This record gives sequence, C-alpha cells and structure tokens, in this order.
Amino acid sequence: MAHTLRAVPGAADERVPFSNLKAQHDAISGELQQAMEKVVANSAFVLGPAVERFEESFSRYCGAAHAVACNSGTSAIHMALRAADVGPGDEVITVANTFVGTVWGILYCGATPVFVDADADTLTMNVEQVAEHITPRTRAIIPVHLYGQPVDMDPLMELAQQHGLCVIEDAAQAHGARYRGRRAGALGHMACFSFYPGKNLGAWGEGGAVLTSDPALYSRLRGLRDHAQSRRYRHEELGFNYRMDGIQGAVLDVKLRHLDRWNARRRELAALYSDMLSGMEGIRLPLVREWAESSWHLYVVRLAGRDGILAAMDARGISCGLHYPVPLHLQEAVRSARPRHGALPVTCEAAGTVLSLPLYPELENDAAIRVVESLKELLEEGAA
Ligand SMILES: Cc1ncc(COP(=O)(O)O)c(C=O)c1O
Repeated sequence: MAHTLRAVPGAADERVPFSNLKAQHDAISGELQQAMEKVVANSAFVLGPAVERFEESFSRYCGAAHAVACNSGTSAIHMALRAADVGPGDEVITVANTFVGTVWGILYCGATPVFVDADADTLTMNVEQVAEHITPRTRAIIPVHLYGQPVDMDPLMELAQQHGLCVIEDAAQAHGARYRGRRAGALGHMACFSFYPGKNLGAWGEGGAVLTSDPALYSRLRGLRDHAQSRRYRHEELGFNYRMDGIQGAVLDVKLRHLDRWNARRRELAALYSDMLSGMEGIRLPLVREWAESSWHLYVVRLAGRDGILAAMDARGISCGLHYPVPLHLQEAVRSARPRHGALPVTCEAAGTVLSLPLYPELENDAAIRVVESLKELLEEGAA
C-alpha cells in the first residue's frame, strides 16, 4: 500500500490531537440523545434498564455469559479480586508496564503484587515467566491485554488450572480484540473492562464492567457492586457502591453498535503507520502475534531519544503519548506495598523508549501521514 501526502488547505497548520472525542460524539449525537432522553424519562439514573441492556449486549458481544457493569475499570478489578477471595497475605501475579489501575485493586485487598517482565516483542505479559513466580500464597493472575493486544492466554490458563489460580483479564484496552478467534473478555475466569471516555468503547464519564461465565462469581459480583445487599438492607459482607449510572449504560449500548467499525478504522490506520514506517532506522514498530487481533487502542513505537522526539513532535503540532513512562514497581505508592519482582529489564527499557502516536477512528489519513512524515524527518535529523 502506498500512501502519499495529499495537500489539504490549512491542514498542516492544525494540531493533530492525541484523541478527538468530540468528532466521535458529533457523528452519532442523534442516537445518543434519544437514548439519554429515555433514561431521563424513566428517571432510571443508577443501574436500571439501560444498564441491564448494555450488560446483555456487551456480554453477548464478548462471548461471556454475564456482565456486571460498574463505575470504573479500577472498581471492576477490585470487585473481581474480592470475588476471587483475594485478601491480605495473598499474592497476585501481573505486570509492571501498565496503567496503575491494574494494581490498585490488589493493594485495596491488602494483597502483594508480583511482577513478571514484559515480552520483548509485544510488551504484553511474558507468560513464560509466570510459573517461576507461583508460590503457595499465589491466588490470582492478572494478564493485561496491553495496547489492545491479547496476552497468550492458552498456556496461562493451563498453568492456572494446574495450580488452582484465578485468572482475571485486564481488558481495559481490548474491547473487541481477539485471541485465536475468541474475544478478550471471555478468555479468563473473569475479565475487567474500563469505559473511560478515551477507551475504544468509552462512556460519557467513568464506567467499567466485569465479565464472567461462572454463575457463582456473577452472583457475588452483583452483590459486591451494590453494597453487598443479599436482600434490601441486609449486608452479609463488606460491600461497595460501584454501580453504573443509567446514562452511561445508555451511551455505551449505543456506542457498542459502532465498535467494530471504529476498530476496523483503527486497524487501517495502524496498517498505514506500519506500512509507512517500516524499514526506518532507529524505530521499533509494534508487533502483533499471528494468533492475535489487536483492538489497536494504542499504536506504540519504541525509539532511543524518545523525550526529544516527543517534544519535537509537540512543537510541530502533533500530540503523542507515553504508555507508560514509569513502571509500577518504581511507583512510590506501589513500592510501599513491597511488591515482589526481579530486574524487569524489558519493562524498564520500554518505559524510556515507548511513544504512542495519535490513533483514533476519526483521524484522517492526511493527518496520520503528517504524523509519519514528521516522525521520519525527526529520525533522519537525529532530533533525539
Ligand atoms: C490497562 C488498564 N487497567 C486498568 C485501568 C483502569 O480503568 P479506569 O480508569 O476506568 O479506572 C485502565 C484505564 O485507564 C487501563 O488502561
């Protein structure tokens, strides 16, 4: 595929933002308005029919039996860990090159995070390192489908089964991604999603969900989300107010209908970037395994002199991102919980070299080409 820069009046002067939620909402504002009006007409502001409808449609979309919608991805992971009976003294194996929301739940439960390194090619969990970190205290594993690419789940599930461990997918970046044909969200014992506005499927505020096909976990999760009420005003365990707003359920249900189309456009843009940047010296492009279909939440390249390139791109009107500049084992809030881990060389190298290019369905080819041309020029100039 050859991509050439088409002249667009004024386009070169406009900033290329890192995301553009307004463009997405403008395109479907009629549908969203109608759905919201229904919520207001019913006064179903917390949980209610719109949330139930979304739970039904999203669990069906992912191929899981049940969804429990809640108020954020962080709450989803916390609830999932509670539902797996993770508590003080327990260990949970995960990765350090992720958003901090992956580990808050572990710390809220009083458990200890155990970090394995990332795979050098994909930056997702290095599944081969998990076995050596399992101890009698290990209770759960949280693989993160980072940037939208699923973790190699088959060997992980087999290992978990051998040791009686619960696997909780962190699918916060993987709405619609597939692993060997199956969707993220239906691969582990539970799967947690975030619907933060900038995600592939984003709410008009905070939102999250836990998916599971296990009826006992489903029932426990529904209780935990809503003050652990077995019956109204009866609370048999510590509960949370993690309920989803009706308006978020309505917005998400509308947006879910567009998700595949949006993800297809993300894939197209990722192909454009990879195509135009391939063969460039000094840059490592994202690699997707042959058994994975990424949701392309982020397009992350790796390069030396990253901070200089980030600043120079910004000066040229192109906003890039860093996912993530400080690994979790080096974050003060996490360190104080005394996580267990080895040297994590891939994680540490990635923190200093990753650069996320703008990638969202509404990004025009011309803007994406401008991103590539700028990056190429900077690499050739040695702007680092
Ligand atoms: C990988 C990952 N895990 C967890 C979270 C937490 O989700 P939320 O921001 O909805 O609490 C996020 C989202 O920001 C994320 O990207």
